[in-house]
Amino acid sequence: MENRPLEYDYTITKMFMFMAIVMGIIGMTIGVILALELAFPGVNTILGSGPIAEFTNFSRLRPLHTDGVAYGFTLSGIWATWYYVGQRVLKVSMAESPFLMFIGKLHFWLYVAVVAAVVVSLFMGYTSSKEYAEFEWPIDIAVVVIWVLWGVSIFGLIGIRREKSLYISIWYYIATFLGVAMLYLFNNMEVPTYFVSGGIGDWMHSVSMYAGTNDALVQWWFGHNAVAFVFTVPIIAIIYYFLPKESGQAVYSYKLSLLAFWGLMFVYLWAGGHHLLYSTVPDWMQTMGSVFSVILILPSWGSAINMLLTMKGEWQQVANSPLIKFMVLGSTFYMFSTLEGPIQAIKSVNAIAHFTDWIVGHVHDGVLGWVGFMIMAAIFHMAPRVFKREIYSKSLVNAQFWIQTLGVVLYFSSMWIAGITQGMMWRAHDEFGNLAYSFIDTVTVLHPYYTIRAVGGLLYLTGVFMWAYNIYKTATAGRVVDESELKNASPMAA
Ligand code: HEM
Ligand code: HEM
Repeated sequence: MENRPLEYDYTITKMFMFMAIVMGIIGMTIGVILALELAFPGVNTILGSGPIAEFTNFSRLRPLHTDGVAYGFTLSGIWATWYYVGQRVLKVSMAESPFLMFIGKLHFWLYVAVVAAVVVSLFMGYTSSKEYAEFEWPIDIAVVVIWVLWGVSIFGLIGIRREKSLYISIWYYIATFLGVAMLYLFNNMEVPTYFVSGGIGDWMHSVSMYAGTNDALVQWWFGHNAVAFVFTVPIIAIIYYFLPKESGQAVYSYKLSLLAFWGLMFVYLWAGGHHLLYSTVPDWMQTMGSVFSVILILPSWGSAINMLLTMKGEWQQVANSPLIKFMVLGSTFYMFSTLEGPIQAIKSVNAIAHFTDWIVGHVHDGVLGWVGFMIMAAIFHMAPRVFKREIYSKSLVNAQFWIQTLGVVLYFSSMWIAGITQGMMWRAHDEFGNLAYSFIDTVTVLHPYYTIRAVGGLLYLTGVFMWAYNIYKTATAGRVVDESELKNASPMAA
């Protein structure tokens, strides 16, 4: 009986896959609108100057993009993979525990309710004004509940597992859970003003418990580690499972994956100061932020090299399989942004880079080339196994890969040129110390690059629609297959 293959239950995986697709489309459509607004300011007031005009302006839409893609698209993708990978590597089916099934469903539906509350409240203009932590206190409390539910699912499944050893991906999922829990709680310590003022003002409004420089420090300790524990650690969990599965190759070095794990855990937490260089934060903290950022290359590249070397001797798969293309290019973009980030963290470089589009370029070579590629590839890998149907069109996956790669390249290269041009123009001065350019001069020069970025974004978004269509068609019209027919030469046999 023990040897009979387990029937895994993918109900919750499918629910989160659906959310990842919906939020990917919404979040990135808003991204393209933002890019168009920066290139063509008239788009800001496309709905005219009437009562609904405020809903389309850049500042109202920006947090909807950042939170939509980070906590909508990315988190849903991470959870879709957790409810799939968790069962398979722990060798236990969700169906075996009605309690865990209930928790999983509650996790999903509460999450959907919170996403709706976030969209409505951000559209209405409610914000705590902290980047990536904009939600007001009632939503923060609901987020904590969602997180606890996910924790119950992780540790519940681990508690009833058949497989004794914990595969490396599980370590990374646990770290994501613990890391975000700690960061979110500390950064969102806030006082609801309505209750302390005896009912004056808006009941949603709150102020941070920290003030001034301390507030900035906690915020960027959070902000930087939101990158670490949403855009890096769980994505590594994903690639360590899906790359070996898709390629049939064992992870190159299990030891290196553990070494890089502890390196990332230790180093990441000290690097947040690089967001506050030349600010009122004590100088030694800024220097510490820079130094730890440069050290961070080591564990980051340790992980990335381990991913790439997993393909050792099997490089022909990169040419033959579009999914391997996504994963290998994803690892390469990860290497790329984790070299670029430390360079931007060097104080003298940051003096040029800070506040410019070079930072936006850095962000998007990471999120589009690494996070986006990995989530879409993982969902492509899971789709045939959860729907028991073959991928509807492999040539569409291939076309999507090339269109999106071109999109990423146009996005980051235009932002590099724009950012460095901006940085140089802002600091240029004549022999008397007068600034050589006014702000509007830089805006005019940047117009072509903003247009190129919008085109790059549009290409990437086109790929997202192709992905959504392909998954939908797979679920509804793909050729019916049994999992044993799918290439699944797994080194983990999970
Ligand atoms: C070794 C790893 C990394 C280091 C040392 C690093 C360093 C930096 C630095 C110095 C900044 C600019 C701070 C400023 O002047 O405003 C930055 C911004 C940012 N990075 Fe990275 N980075 C790394 C990896 C990544 C990766 C892999 C991603 C995404 C997948 C990413 C996402 C971001 C985001 C979202 C911001 C913008 C934050 C904001 O100002 O809103 N970083 N990073
Ligand atoms: C179609 C694809 C996308 C387009 C066109 C796009 C466009 C934009 C634009 C125009 C901005 C504002 C930049 C500014 O304030 O100057 C932005 C910011 C940002 N986007 Fe995207 N985006 C896309 C996809 C994504 C994805 C998939 C993610 C994450 C998974 C992401 C994460 C972010 C973040 C973290 C910021 C804030 C950067 C900062 O403060 O430096 N974007 N995006």
